[in-house]
Amino acid sequence: MKTLIVGAGALGGIIGARLLAVGASVSLATRNATSAEAISASGLRVTGIGGDLSIEAGEVAPLAEYSAPGTFDLIVLATKAHDAIDVAPSLARLLAPGGTLLPIQNGGVAQMLASQLGDECVLGALSNLTGTMLRPGIYEQSNAGYLLIGELGGGESVRSERVRLWLSRAVNVKVTPNLQGAVWSKLLLNCSVTTIGAIAGLTMRAYIDRPEGRELFYRTYDEALSVALASGVRPEKMLVDPIPPGWKGRTISGEALDLWLVEILNSYGDAKASMLQDFERGRTTEIDFINGYVVDTARQFGLNAPVNTAIVETVYATTRGQSAPDPNLLGQILYPEPVGQHIARFDGEKDVQQA
Ligand SMILES: NC(=O)c1ccc[n+]([C@@H]2O[C@H](COP(=O)([O-])OP(=O)(O)OC[C@H]3O[C@@H](n4cnc5c(N)ncnc54)[C@H](OP(=O)(O)O)[C@@H]3O)[C@@H](O)[C@H]2O)c1
Repeated sequence: MKTLIVGAGALGGIIGARLLAVGASVSLATRNATSAEAISASGLRVTGIGGDLSIEAGEVAPLAEYSAPGTFDLIVLATKAHDAIDVAPSLARLLAPGGTLLPIQNGGVAQMLASQLGDECVLGALSNLTGTMLRPGIYEQSNAGYLLIGELGGGESVRSERVRLWLSRAVNVKVTPNLQGAVWSKLLLNCSVTTIGAIAGLTMRAYIDRPEGRELFYRTYDEALSVALASGVRPEKMLVDPIPPGWKGRTISGEALDLWLVEILNSYGDAKASMLQDFERGRTTEIDFINGYVVDTARQFGLNAPVNTAIVETVYATTRGQSAPDPNLLGQILYPEPVGQHIARFDGEKDVQQA
């Protein structure tokens, strides 16, 4: 399968390097010429889990330089979510007839692209493989995770199996007949574990000890899970059961729930949220495709998702520099101040007029 990897960042770089190392035909597309030149000069190097390797980069160029229609059988779209939405329409024409676009972002990206470009062009995927880019061309793989791929409409397909066989030469790949269920299971954790951690500036293990951290975690998770179920999705078990024990539209406190929470903490409790790194580096976050996707899906099914909405607004405010990661924000999301009190605290004159 002639393959193009768009985005030679952490995941794109690791997948591309490992494919090249087994002799696959792979081209890399960067955002700009500077990154392409740096990668061409340094070659690709991967360290960490999965084994070290060093290899020449082969064809690497800015995306704009790939213009010949019908060139690639597989395009792995490995940019951040907002960039994926921007570039995907220009990628469809680079696909050979029957070719596949494989977006590997979290949340709603693959579904959004399938709605835009058609199910026949887009195969769904998510990544449980993790890594970081140390500098262009130089990567570290940090776990032995896998890419999970599958048809967005569900079921099995010949192309899922072909793509699995092809990419399995480089990294672990699994196919699921319930990709949407897997996407939502990961989304439930991204919305709660990760976004709340980023807002608080803490790991989940640290924020869950605060009463407002624990309450916000459950309320965010409950709301997102209700939206998933209302949309007809059947969340798929990955590391942890996506439906908390005894769940009836909301989590029910008790020993079983405590044990479920410990499982989540053991799997995800100590990771620094990538969104927190986005805040620190002043980068756009993927919030629109995480909690924002929950809010949009809720709306589509005539529901409200007030907790996730408040979370999205808090992340926007942080990105705009109007607030900074702080554990006190968790309480403010749960218990927003009534407008009158807010005015009384900050502007006594207006408060009098209002009274
Ligand atoms: N890394 C992980 O461990 C991990 C795990 C699970 C899921 N994910 C998800 O996977 C996706 C990719 O993550 P990542 O960590 O690999 O991101 P990343 O390191 O930021 O890499 C993204 C790359 O895409 C490039 N890019 C952006 N726009 C482009 C364009 N128009 N044409 C070509 N290249 C372009 C970026 O270049 P510039 O630097 O020049 O912008 C960057 O090199 C994200 O949605 C992330 O949430 C990542």
